[in-house]
Amino acid sequence: MQSPPSTARPDGERPGFHVAILMDGNGRWATARGLPRPAGHQAGADALRHIVEAAPDLGIRTLTVYALSSDNWHRPKREVMGILRMLRTRLRAQAADCLQRNVRISVIGRRDRLPRHVLAAIEDAERLTRDCDGWHFRIAVDYSARHAIAQAALRAAHQGGLHEASPTGEDPAALALFAAGMRSDLGPDVDLVIRTGGEQRLSDFLLWECSYAELYFTPTLWPDFDGAALADAVAEFRRRDRRFGRVPALVGAR
Ligand code: IPE
Ligand code: IPE
Ligand code: MG
Repeated sequence: MQSPPSTARPDGERPGFHVAILMDGNGRWATARGLPRPAGHQAGADALRHIVEAAPDLGIRTLTVYALSSDNWHRPKREVMGILRMLRTRLRAQAADCLQRNVRISVIGRRDRLPRHVLAAIEDAERLTRDCDGWHFRIAVDYSARHAIAQAALRAAHQGGLHEASPTGEDPAALALFAAGMRSDLGPDVDLVIRTGGEQRLSDFLLWECSYAELYFTPTLWPDFDGAALADAVAEFRRRDRRFGRVPALVGAR
């Protein structure tokens, strides 16, 4: 009997290949070394720099990283402010480097609660790199997928038109209107989600965009995650059989 055609697709080489990372485990990394938690966040930022260097050679065209969730405001204020200060410093230091490498930087998430100095660094980095088209590096700060989706629903409702859509919510026009409402926070569909640190949950990250994402969990703590670890995750992704609700033989006919 003839074997069914392979459904494995080289998504890693598609122009839009989108990887999203929950960079978890900084605190435990520091605690295990007898260091304060901020040392873990600093080490995590170093790890991120290496991942940004490794990403384009792996075919990644959009990388979205979770730097601070909206729920992280429930942490001690000192820790959150330390993370935001570090974000500002790193953005200031790395924006020129991204410009040189033709990498566009965007930040997604709420902006109304960020300190002004952080907002200024974000806007400067975005402005400096806005014409870069090599690949897209997105950083989620004060981000909540539920909030982003609720905002999109509100905007779509204000714009009108939703009431004419199919009540099943499957109407492509309604979905397009809704997605348009998510404006700059809406990225391309996520192909691969990586979560370091051993937990196996999404923690309110890109819930809309991850509908058909492949999930990859690793116990490696974020500061120890390097280019080789990223390559392993992408290799595992390429072995996955993505069916998008279809039966295997029909996938190629999408
Ligand atoms: C991820 O590391 C960074 C942020 C959430 C800002 P954590 O700080 O959550 O590290 P653990 O999970 O406590 O080890
Ligand atoms: C998720 O990590 C947020 C980031 C990686 C920035 P958390 O450590 O905040 O998530 P939970 O609390 O374990 O779900
Ligand atoms: Mg954590």
